[in-house]
Amino acid sequence: MKLKNTKELILDAQKNGYAVPAFNIHNLETIQTVLETCEKLKSPVILAATPSTVDYANREYLIAIMQQAMEKLTIPFALHLDHFENVGDIKAIIAEGCRSVMIDASKHPLEENIAIVKDIVEFAHACGATVEAELGKLGGQEDNIKVDEKDAFFTNPDEAVEFVERTGIDTLAVAIGTAHGLYKKEPKLDFERLNKIRQVIDIPLVLHGASGVPSMAVQKAIDLGICKVNIATELKIPFSSAIKDYFTEHPDASDPRKYLIPAKEAMAKVVEEKVKMCKSAQRG
Ligand code: 13P
Repeated sequence: MKLKNTKELILDAQKNGYAVPAFNIHNLETIQTVLETCEKLKSPVILAATPSTVDYANREYLIAIMQQAMEKLTIPFALHLDHFENVGDIKAIIAEGCRSVMIDASKHPLEENIAIVKDIVEFAHACGATVEAELGKLGGQEDNIKVDEKDAFFTNPDEAVEFVERTGIDTLAVAIGTAHGLYKKEPKLDFERLNKIRQVIDIPLVLHGASGVPSMAVQKAIDLGICKVNIATELKIPFSSAIKDYFTEHPDASDPRKYLIPAKEAMAKVVEEKVKMCKSAQRG
């Protein structure tokens, strides 16, 4: 069974004023929890896999799990490569069946970023895959990409117009004040900048680093054109905390099928909250 790209999912969100939640998956338990919870809530969803996740899970297994889930579930969902920098890896995984990818060339100067992204867009579109790219640079750490706060910078709306026109990307990840990982203080989103970007760009916009951003702020961003919201840290922490708590209570435990249950329940709660935040329930 062919995996889906993210075009229809995200365009529906754009048309109807909600966002598709994109959860970073780290293991089988995250995949099961995200898919089962979204199926229950009838929410479309994106499962995002960074290079480390793909290496850890094994790309053939990952694709096979998604194909199997498609047979079983009714909601629209897609596997999406998140923050991939290696052009060869992206092409190989698309060739194996993945149909949605973020090429992250945001560390390069504009011209180089455009050239790298354009190359991926041409290859991906020929295979029916969709492409997200980032302009501006988010602080924090996602996977092995670490950006110091002082090196982070926001998306320039004029450059964004040129970037979208010259690359042909399907979705644009914007830097408007969020960061990957935990925040030291409440983030202040630059809504004025987001609004400006929205005025000049009509493709769907993506918000990275949504963990720890108050729901009201994410919802305001959705009202201003964000159609995909990325969440990683807020799933990882409750998963790990639930396991730690389990071992505190049961120091001799050794059965993963037991100690992973509360971890899955903790993640399911977060998935429910984020679906509510994205207003994506009953859209799938
Ligand atoms: P958080 O870990 O801050 O939720 O960021 C997730 C993300 O943007 C993945 O690309």
